[in-house]
Amino acid sequence: MPAPVRVTGPAAWRWALRFALDPLMATRRAFAAFGPFVVLAEALPVVKRPRAVLVNVPLVLTAGAAFNRELLSDPETWRGVSLLPGGPKNSAARRLAQGLTRTTGQQHAHYRKLVAPPLRRTSVHAMAEKMAQLAEAEVALWPAGETIDIWEFPRRVMRNIAVELLFGGSSEDGYFIADAVSRLMEGKWGGSAFALRINLPFTSYGRIVRDSALVERRLLEWARTRCGKVCDRDLVSIIVNSSDADGNPPSDAVLAGQIPSLFAAAFEAGQSALTWTLLLLAQHPHIAARLLDELRSKMGRTSPSLSDAGELSYLDAVVRESMRILPPVPFQMRVAQRDTKIFEYPVPKGARVILNTFLTNRMPHPYPDGDVFRPERWFTIAPSAFEFPVFSAGPHSCPGYWFGSTAVKIALAAILMRYRLVLAPNTRVDYRVQPTMRPLRPVHARLHPQDGAFAATPLSGRIRDLVTLPP
Ligand code: HEM
Repeated sequence: MPAPVRVTGPAAWRWALRFALDPLMATRRAFAAFGPFVVLAEALPVVKRPRAVLVNVPLVLTAGAAFNRELLSDPETWRGVSLLPGGPKNSAARRLAQGLTRTTGQQHAHYRKLVAPPLRRTSVHAMAEKMAQLAEAEVALWPAGETIDIWEFPRRVMRNIAVELLFGGSSEDGYFIADAVSRLMEGKWGGSAFALRINLPFTSYGRIVRDSALVERRLLEWARTRCGKVCDRDLVSIIVNSSDADGNPPSDAVLAGQIPSLFAAAFEAGQSALTWTLLLLAQHPHIAARLLDELRSKMGRTSPSLSDAGELSYLDAVVRESMRILPPVPFQMRVAQRDTKIFEYPVPKGARVILNTFLTNRMPHPYPDGDVFRPERWFTIAPSAFEFPVFSAGPHSCPGYWFGSTAVKIALAAILMRYRLVLAPNTRVDYRVQPTMRPLRPVHARLHPQDGAFAATPLSGRIRDLVTLPP
């Protein structure tokens, strides 16, 4: 079993700070310096209830399938964290953060079962034609010949698909909640709000607390309109019209706890995957050309029926490879619920562990030349979910695997059949993790009609630290 390297004192603080500033490169450097199991002892100040004492807990950095298997298989000991910020006792912010990722036991099993039917493979297959129509309709509205931001426009496709197919169809409320939940997530993962947690009118944390109250109000009004209208494809209607885990009608707190995290999960990771795939293709002309050939040969030149996107092996390999090299969710965090051990190494209750998908996806076995974007590798490897944890693994693995991966493939095919994206000259691409991986600033690309004349435009930025790109 791997033995940890323990980093203490100011050095631990320095590594924790590096992690806060650039988690991908910090963990990469820590891995190079110390190996796959690093304990930054007493690195994180956390407030311990009920007496609100400040204590230091370790931040544990891990990489590799063995750690994923050990921790993800035992969610009772290693609890996930909410995508949403949380907040003071009895606040809307706290209620909104009670979704599936944080719950365990019977409550978790109950809601997993409820959300499963529309997300399973057969349901997604049945939705694929509609998904393709939605993607086609959205992409047709993009301004051909002009410049777009390749983070913002993919968001529109992925959000439309999710709101239309999983949240009861087009509605002002659906889009409002989707965007408001995204802003709350950014507030948690992107700023100082959580370091400080001061609830005043002018602080970021105070804004999160107030915005959450507004989201909760709007969400509950909207959810109530679904009472008695059961639709087996609409996650909101399913939760509103089903008993809670104790067999009672769902309370407002249950609705406010379960629904927002579904919104949060349903399209942001897909948006991230689509954005980075477009960028990687724009940098790898021969791969883009081969993919376009496959799409044209299997789907015809015009108005493709994209319903059989699952049968396109190169499309599948390109999307997997993109999610391997730039995972939409590069880390998972787990919190020890009791004093416990990782293998033989004791860790105290409250310790935070980072399970590093970004590094796991670069292990020399089964991924030689891990920084190289090479879709063909997927024709010869079949890693387990612990070795390729892009959708996590174990009891809390992503139930949206089929929906998310199909939507990304269908949206990518719709974009590529219509446009060739050319990055603006002197583009700089940096990234942030919030908790999905995204560009730090807008990345501009011109939309040429698709003519197959792919060529890479040189780019700069920290993205070059993560992927081998043409000079
Ligand atoms: C490319 C698309 C997607 C990717 C890469 C992705 C990735 C992930 C990952 C890594 C987790 C584990 C997070 C953690 O435990 O810390 C997760 C959980 C989850 N995902 Fe996805 N996801 C995607 C699409 C979707 C979609 C379309 C839905 C639909 C609602 C969805 C719903 C969920 C839910 C509910 C959870 C929590 C599961 C639980 O805790 O039991 N995801 N996803």
